[in-house]
Amino acid sequence: MAKTKSPSGHEKIETNNFLMIVLILLAVAVGGIVEIVPLFFQRSTTEAAPGHKPYSALQLAGRDVYLREGCYNCHSQMVRPFRAEALRYGAHSTAGEFVYDHPFQWGSKRTGPDLHRVGGKYSDEWHRVHMINPRDLVPESNMPAYPWLVTAQIDPASMAPRMNALRKVGVPYTDAEVAAAAEDVKGRSEMDALIAYLQVLGTSGK
Ligand code: HEC
Repeated sequence: MAKTKSPSGHEKIETNNFLMIVLILLAVAVGGIVEIVPLFFQRSTTEAAPGHKPYSALQLAGRDVYLREGCYNCHSQMVRPFRAEALRYGAHSTAGEFVYDHPFQWGSKRTGPDLHRVGGKYSDEWHRVHMINPRDLVPESNMPAYPWLVTAQIDPASMAPRMNALRKVGVPYTDAEVAAAAEDVKGRSEMDALIAYLQVLGTSGK
């Protein structure tokens, strides 16, 4: 007669829901830590790409308009390392190009094209006309129009606090840059700022 075996360790885990859940969580946690933690210390992910500079005051104001208007809901900023993407957008994005972005705007939805390499692709005037009414340039476009950006002004007094907040998370703005920020954006519209931002996007990694 066959001897009944005492349950093996494996069988014990598979037949005990609680043990199974605890061990799965442990495996996921250890795997996650091993993959994620080194990224905080690798030079390739923590150091700026060659030639990559923090946003100027005007570009930074434009970035905040981009966030406020929710452009990231339709546009990613992440050219993936695939041949089709390189042909359409240019060189793929690298981690060092995002070290001054808090938070980064990689996005996850492409209703419109990726914008990471859009800097320098069009003239400022093209962007102005396109933003006032995208249909004037691309008849089939379903991008919303943003005409109010032309008249809305950037508040110069708001720039120093924005830059100081970024300094706290490691963006190396100098005291002189923070002091000059108000002058930089004085009299400029939100449209000027947004275009300045779009025109610098991805230019350090081209
Ligand atoms: C509802 C989705 C949607 C939103 C929101 C949106 N866009 Fe677009 N965008 C598109 C689509 C679709 C296109 C492609 C057609 C066109 O060029 O108008 C596009 C094209 C563009 C282009 C031209 C890209 C290229 O390489 O030709 C730029 C620049 C752009 N959008 C900037 C913005 C900015 C800045 C905002 C926020 C103020 C914004 N978009 C918000 C859908 C959107």
